[in-house]
Amino acid sequence: MIGTPRVHHRVTDSTNERAKELADAGALHGTLVTADEQEAGRGRQGRVWTAPAGSAVLMSVILRDLDERHALLPLAAAVAVCEACGSDLAPQVKWPNDVWIDRRKVAGILIEGRPQEGWAVLGIGLNVTTDSFPPELADIATSLRLAGHETTPAAVLPDLLAALNRWIDARPEAVLKAWRSRDALRGKRVRWPGGRGTADGIDDSGGLLVRTDDGHVTLDAGEVHLLR
Ligand code: BTN
Repeated sequence: MIGTPRVHHRVTDSTNERAKELADAGALHGTLVTADEQEAGRGRQGRVWTAPAGSAVLMSVILRDLDERHALLPLAAAVAVCEACGSDLAPQVKWPNDVWIDRRKVAGILIEGRPQEGWAVLGIGLNVTTDSFPPELADIATSLRLAGHETTPAAVLPDLLAALNRWIDARPEAVLKAWRSRDALRGKRVRWPGGRGTADGIDDSGGLLVRTDDGHVTLDAGEVHLLR
């Protein structure tokens, strides 16, 4: 079961860091680390992840016995986060695994670990009661509260764990179908460091298909930006 045992910190540097340390020391599959506040929260691409104390779900879970059946784990995790947000808010996934509501990011996912040793730490930050964001994020970030759903991080966490339990070992075809039904970029103009084009869904490995003036490209890693 994902979520047991659980270690909760009022303040820590990064739940991913704490979970990696526990995984290194042999902690079991499913071990959960949560925090009210992080002093060094990490995002993808070397970015920082910040959230006011008590306003977000900040969690990292240790996953063991990972193999090729889990190749779509980043996508499966995003589908689980969407489900935990509730269907009323119509959450979508922005490739590869940001969760958006109303074209603003409500949650991010950072997977770190040692694939060669068969374990990973799945870190999720989900903004729940955040009322406002710093100016540089105001147009691109949101929270469940700002989207109109009043709840608390403590109330969302069990739903998120239940959704992760459903999706982490789900069949790839099911993950792809659920992800594709929530694709925020399909048909939208996007740019990335190597070019620009129109997003055209994902292939069966989770790569982003993009139509360009010269044909098609598939992006396997990195990130794209929506041309608004
Ligand atoms: C991203 O979108 O860039 C990923 C953000 C991931 C943030 C979460 S918060 C809990 C966990 N601990 C971290 O240091 N990062 C992840």
